[in-house]
Amino acid sequence: MALSLNSMISFPSHKLPSHKPLNLRSSRLFMASTLHSTSKEAENLKKPYCPPREVHVQVTHSMAPQKIEIFKSLEGWAEENILVHLKPVEKCWQPQDFLPDPKSEGFYEQVKELREKSKELPDDYFVVLVGDMITEEALPTYQTMLNTLDGVRDETGASLTSWAVWTRAWTAEENRHGDLLNKYLYLSGRVDMKQIEKTIQYLIGSGMDPKTENNPYLGFIYTSFQERATFISHGNTARQAKEYGDMKLAQICGTIASDEKRHETAYTKIVEKLFEIDPDGTVMALADMMKKKVSMPAHLMYDGRDDNLFEHFSAVAQRLGVYTARDYAAILEFLVGRWDVEKLGGLSAEGRRAQDFVCGLPPRIRRLEERAQGKAKQASAVPFSWLFGREVMV
Ligand SMILES: [Fe+2]
Ligand SMILES: [Fe+2]
Repeated sequence: MALSLNSMISFPSHKLPSHKPLNLRSSRLFMASTLHSTSKEAENLKKPYCPPREVHVQVTHSMAPQKIEIFKSLEGWAEENILVHLKPVEKCWQPQDFLPDPKSEGFYEQVKELREKSKELPDDYFVVLVGDMITEEALPTYQTMLNTLDGVRDETGASLTSWAVWTRAWTAEENRHGDLLNKYLYLSGRVDMKQIEKTIQYLIGSGMDPKTENNPYLGFIYTSFQERATFISHGNTARQAKEYGDMKLAQICGTIASDEKRHETAYTKIVEKLFEIDPDGTVMALADMMKKKVSMPAHLMYDGRDDNLFEHFSAVAQRLGVYTARDYAAILEFLVGRWDVEKLGGLSAEGRRAQDFVCGLPPRIRRLEERAQGKAKQASAVPFSWLFGREVMV
């Protein structure tokens, strides 16, 4: 899963009522400008447990109950076509394959080398790498999200349906991502691990609402988008690590990126199948998801200090070219092509409107982005607790 810059791209949602959704974060944001970071933490200490949260209208169970049958009937298909994209554990890489070996004589030497190499990487690179790692570490939230989906959820925690087997094994594969990045960052000595650990705890406590409405059509469109977004962002942190001469870190990020690519293949295949069975329902779900925007999994990120932490992290990712508004448009364009949305036939009038909307959206997003880029932005430096309060340009 990945980060975002959806603040730049805004489309009205047809599902939300006209009153403005409450946003508790913006009221907290208002206070932040008057408070110093340490007094902010002291203030949080006095509060009852209260992580950042989002309050908006939450639509539930939007898929017609009879469509649950579609997913039941796809059990055998999923076994043959989706579970094959999982790797047997014995063939999987593990974080330890890329880290200094604690039982080896050369352990201290390997750690020293890792730390020397990491000195070549600038602070802004670390902001993005830490944000990516924190996003991966909130994995309990993503497994929960998959298990909100009607017709495919793991009903028992050890269900033997193909959907449930996939979700657990996917989670198990993903679990190595945060683990590996976390251990690398710990050993590098470049970042404030306690602040990072606090951010992870806050984020898991906050959860997320991807607006997938217990609806597996929306859920699998969301995951298709997200897996590709993470494939792109980890690919870019790999490329940049290589440019800075840290080959080990480049290998780490590149290996994670290739997992994301494999997961993208599986999720896009599910949606491809839905387009085949129910083109009208699927194209409307795609339009619906894009109107609401693909909210990013870590958008409620908070470290106890910075009320705009996610926006600041996203701004650095955008500036470094790790994940940008252009990528958001490119992902949509890729998916529209992957699912042959332009060529869908036999649609209802509403289906055709949805088709026109999604096919015309990537250029619209690009135009909005160019307009946003055109406006002279005030460059500012923001302190990141993850970097012991050192400032980074956003
Ligand atoms: Fe992923
Ligand atoms: Fe991941």
